[in-house]
Amino acid sequence: KYEFRALLTAMVVMTIFIFSMLYVVGARRSDVPQCVNFDKSYLTPRVDKIDDSTYEVYMVAQMWGFQPDEIRIPVGSTVDFYLTSKDVVHGFYIDGKDVNMMAEYGNVTKRTAKFNTAGVYKIFCHEYCGVGHQNMEARIIVG
Ligand code: CUA
Repeated sequence: KYEFRALLTAMVVMTIFIFSMLYVVGARRSDVPQCVNFDKSYLTPRVDKIDDSTYEVYMVAQMWGFQPDEIRIPVGSTVDFYLTSKDVVHGFYIDGKDVNMMAEYGNVTKRTAKFNTAGVYKIFCHEYCGVGHQNMEARIIVG
């Protein structure tokens, strides 16, 4: 009898543990930049349209600009940003959105953002990266 009870307790503890792990992973997915395995394809800037309201942006930071430097998407779009750098460490901040990442060579960071309001969202570099740092920006045009 006692063995059964011990086994049951162990299983309950295991289940709680597994669910809390899943919960942490789920929370990370929405709040924190994710690391993605780097390969050279991420050095090619592009915008991929998945469907009418889902886009993937492959963003490349390089002294002193971002490519693509202008992204046009319709209102209500969800965008996955994949970010890397061709040279030094750059910052990536989308004004008006809670998106803040670092761009590093050999690393890819991913963040998802939803654009429900029309407008122009400025992207800028928030990590000092040389004389052209303050001019390093891009924009997202939603409308
Ligand atoms: Cu790039 Cu500052």
